Amino acid sequence: MTVEDPFAHLHEEGYASAYDRPLIGADSLVDPGGRPMDALTDWGLTLDPFEEGLRQRWFALDDRPMAEWTTPRDFDDAGATPARAPCCWTMLDPEWRRHEGAVWHVTHFDHARGPHRTVLRFGAANYAALVFLNGRFLGRHLGGSTPFCVELTEALHEGRNRLMVMVENHRRSDRVPMGHIDWFNHGGLHREVALLRLPPVFIRAAGFALTADGVGIAVDVTLSDPVDGVARVAIPALGIHADLSVAAGAGRVEIAAAPDRWSPETPRLHDVAVSFGDDVFRERVGFRTLAVEGERILLNGRPIWLRGVCVHEDDRDVGRVSTEADVRRRFGHARALGCNFLRLAHYPHHEHVARIADEEGFLLWSEIPVYWAIDFANPATFADAENQLRELIARDRNRASVALWGVGNENADTDARLSFMSRLAAAARAADPTRLIAAACLIDRVRFAIADRLAETLDVIGLNEYFGWYEPGFEGLERLLANSEPGKPVIVSETGADGAPGLRGTGLFTEHRQAEIVRRQIETLRRFDYVQGVAWWLLYDFRSDRRQTGVQRGFNRKGLVADDKATLKAGFHALAEAYAAIAGRKAD
Ligand code: GCU
Repeated sequence: MTVEDPFAHLHEEGYASAYDRPLIGADSLVDPGGRPMDALTDWGLTLDPFEEGLRQRWFALDDRPMAEWTTPRDFDDAGATPARAPCCWTMLDPEWRRHEGAVWHVTHFDHARGPHRTVLRFGAANYAALVFLNGRFLGRHLGGSTPFCVELTEALHEGRNRLMVMVENHRRSDRVPMGHIDWFNHGGLHREVALLRLPPVFIRAAGFALTADGVGIAVDVTLSDPVDGVARVAIPALGIHADLSVAAGAGRVEIAAAPDRWSPETPRLHDVAVSFGDDVFRERVGFRTLAVEGERILLNGRPIWLRGVCVHEDDRDVGRVSTEADVRRRFGHARALGCNFLRLAHYPHHEHVARIADEEGFLLWSEIPVYWAIDFANPATFADAENQLRELIARDRNRASVALWGVGNENADTDARLSFMSRLAAAARAADPTRLIAAACLIDRVRFAIADRLAETLDVIGLNEYFGWYEPGFEGLERLLANSEPGKPVIVSETGADGAPGLRGTGLFTEHRQAEIVRRQIETLRRFDYVQGVAWWLLYDFRSDRRQTGVQRGFNRKGLVADDKATLKAGFHALAEAYAAIAGRKAD
């Protein structure tokens, strides 16, 4: 009889491969659709730099108290550090600030057997998450900023259930983004985690949008199972109550309607609902059309110039956690700048950002973190990027404020990159023909022009340029713009300069210099008709370990507002004046 070797796991280096599959992705998403969710907020966190939890299968341990153990262990629920999700472990404890690796999150919840099905929904987890319920491995999710769902129904116990999630934020060459980024690599369950309890057949997703010709509303529905039946559509404010025929779990109907249009000036939202059997999916939707005509961007058929600012999801106190108050402050500052547009850099932001932008009246550029160098030749990397894109589109497809899907940022123009990002652009267009596709592109240095091979797959060309900062003077900007014939709208998706709060003088890193660059940039850009907007880099100073001078101290200081999200710099006022002039009014 062989006695199990308690030390075998020490020599086992192939331990992780058992948890590579199944991958949890866009196909298992459930859009909450206004249905009630039970938040899972009270967790215990345990650092695991050596992934002992997988080697020793901590997830399979029972949770008996230490007094009842018969052999020693290296993990117990009682030893975990209490934390309230959403949270970043990087902000929980100064000792954990730069931990790039695995952290185990454990929580417990009660379940009562019944006819319903139970789906676990994560708002996001950075970067990879392995989900275990009552010792059973349910799947692995990749991507640090998009929602994912896993059905628990078959693995649930009557009474107490134990949910363990291993989250790891390794920066790796096959990931999206890769290892080199200009923001802080916060790790953890940085968005809400909740349980959805649903009927045996439920609505997985529903979409509402104006038809391309703008004379009707298209409604589509996808069910949890491939059944036939009739769903009911209700848009009370428009007097719409219509049937939607469902075959094999899906259906679509176009209904003649002329809803008041949504726009930043008139952010009109309509209550909509789709029901199927006992399940009701509710949303608040704005109806608008977006198009490109020549070098113009058309919103509801009229040209719009995008007065924008970029934002990261970063807070000096809570890291990537994005509260509603934080988002409303962000829009308050954007309003004070005179913005009608924000670029959500460089990854999908919290889902309440677009929901609040719908209410407040801002257009958004939302993107996946195909950032700088990516392993463009790696099929698994493409699958990761495409899944993040599909999860983002599935999550925000009903948000009128989302105008552009960004498929990348500042990627060197190689054949592998062209193939990778062209396929992403095609995937975005296939998933959502109602929005514009963009990417933040680099200058073609050979032709010294706005000319990127990727541009032919895009509706709008994003251009990142830093004349006046990384490239001294503005002669180059003049030459570049005069030398370019993009043939489609260009948004300057980034331009900016550091301004250390309170640093006086006129030299680099002073507030004065930042403000001067704002004025010269906007004045120059406005003289070229194909430039249809600017997303100034950026609203708030943010944490980045790449920035280590005495005035930066681990922060990128290009914010127009300091990292306290209150101290306005001279550049803030300069941009507010510039945007007021563009909008044809005086700055406040
Ligand atoms: C780049 C990049 C940003 C970065 C910025 C900067 O354009 O896209 O992520 O933070 O420059 O240098 O501040």
